[in-house]
Amino acid sequence: MHLFNIILSVSVFIVVQGDDDFLYDTFPEDFLWGTATSSYQIEGAWNVDGKGENIWDTFSHESGKVANNDTGDIACDSYNNYAEDIQLLKDLGVDFYRFSLSWARLLPTGRVDQPNQAGIDYYNTLINELLEEDIIPMVTLYHWDLPKDLYDQGGWENEEMVQIFNEYAIFAFELFGDRVKWWITFNEPYVFIVYGMGEGYHAPGLESPGEIIYTAAHTVLKAHAEAWHSYDELFRPTQNGNIGITLDTDWKEPLTDSPEDIEASERGMQFSLGWFANPIHGSGGYPAVMKEKIAEKSAQQGYEQSRLPEFTAEEEARILGTSDFFGLNHYSTAMVQGENTVAPEPSYLDDRDIITSVNETWIGCDFVYVVPWGLRNLLNWITNTYDRPNIYITENGMCDYNATLNDEHRVNYYRSYTNNVLKAIKLDGCDVRSYTAWSLLDNFEWAYGYDLRFGLHHVDFEDPARPRTPKASAEFIRQLVADNGFPEPEVKTQNLNQVKPKEFVRAKFRSGTQ
Ligand code: NOJ
Repeated sequence: MHLFNIILSVSVFIVVQGDDDFLYDTFPEDFLWGTATSSYQIEGAWNVDGKGENIWDTFSHESGKVANNDTGDIACDSYNNYAEDIQLLKDLGVDFYRFSLSWARLLPTGRVDQPNQAGIDYYNTLINELLEEDIIPMVTLYHWDLPKDLYDQGGWENEEMVQIFNEYAIFAFELFGDRVKWWITFNEPYVFIVYGMGEGYHAPGLESPGEIIYTAAHTVLKAHAEAWHSYDELFRPTQNGNIGITLDTDWKEPLTDSPEDIEASERGMQFSLGWFANPIHGSGGYPAVMKEKIAEKSAQQGYEQSRLPEFTAEEEARILGTSDFFGLNHYSTAMVQGENTVAPEPSYLDDRDIITSVNETWIGCDFVYVVPWGLRNLLNWITNTYDRPNIYITENGMCDYNATLNDEHRVNYYRSYTNNVLKAIKLDGCDVRSYTAWSLLDNFEWAYGYDLRFGLHHVDFEDPARPRTPKASAEFIRQLVADNGFPEPEVKTQNLNQVKPKEFVRAKFRSGTQ
């Protein structure tokens, strides 16, 4: 061994200080840590114990819709393995578990007049056993698995869905609200609407990128507001919980600092997040720039009126302020520049008048690029645009195509993203109150089936028992939660001049026989 190597091996004990980019600090004491899943992605048991069919059952059973024709028929089999999932949550030490209710498991036809007792029992057991382990249940009412019967009656294009969803929400508050204090009405309306009814690669597979998406979003916003009001008026006085909506967006970074690109970035943010956030958290109704652009393009495309519906003043007022918190899902960032074209076929992508790209130096996996500062910018944008709301990060995570347990890339993602959340809180003054790692388990990743994995725990989908194994990222999250962040490491310094090589090495060195 060369002396140089000896010194190097000594120097690994010296903690490097001055990593300017990393913030050593802890999160506020009442900060909440959690992890998440959703019913269709993990439960399986798609047709047992009286569960009704939903649009993801139908869609995945149709050949060619999902990679490898994978389905959620069994998924992680959490319907049967939920107790093991609770044990994993316990091992992680998280404060809460975010999961969703399968509407069709509770109400096979989607309507409250025919409840399914086995479904009610399943969620009662899950909630009770979580609480026994001191894990807070955070429950999403709608994570994309619409009962098929309701889709056959028009789905989110049907205005009646406002009341039907409201009745389902009341049914859930009545049954579980004595124990569930955190409710999320809808998960990522942008994604299930644009992918499911615009692009067609999610259920129900409609392709109406410039029309149905806007009318469906209109119904969803009203349905959300009614459920919030029902909770607020009928249940909050006795149950005293929180209810909100989870929205999602990439951060849209201007490509250059030109005024055009900065404006394009703002427009892009308004079209993705503002579409749902402005009616609820902002000034009310759709963002002005969406109204303008879509009206202008609709006229050029020969429509008599804008493809973007309008709220009445009364509706606008009823929707405004209907979220107790700002639920946020975030994964990635895009660079944005402006463009100005009118496509002959109406489309949401064209309506935005932006071009998005990624920086070629960014590393990533599929649609997730690792741009940790993007989350900090986004948190600041939300803070500035919506008057410093209390933000609950309800999803953030990293994928891969490998079944590896040594998921260093995911550890790096979590480390750098959570550190940027910490910076947003401590350095920028954003009011962020929770962080949720997506996902507790590898699971059914929608159109990607089981190819794309996001789990802290590996699931063997070849094995009927669906065994779960913690990955390196599970240990990372466990430590992060235990430390509540990144406490300053203990600094050990050593004067290299005083480091003495061991005697036998010194002898070898002197004799030249290394
Ligand atoms: C958002 C969705 O809520 C979740 O269902 C999905 O698996 C993750 N993002 C990853 O794509």
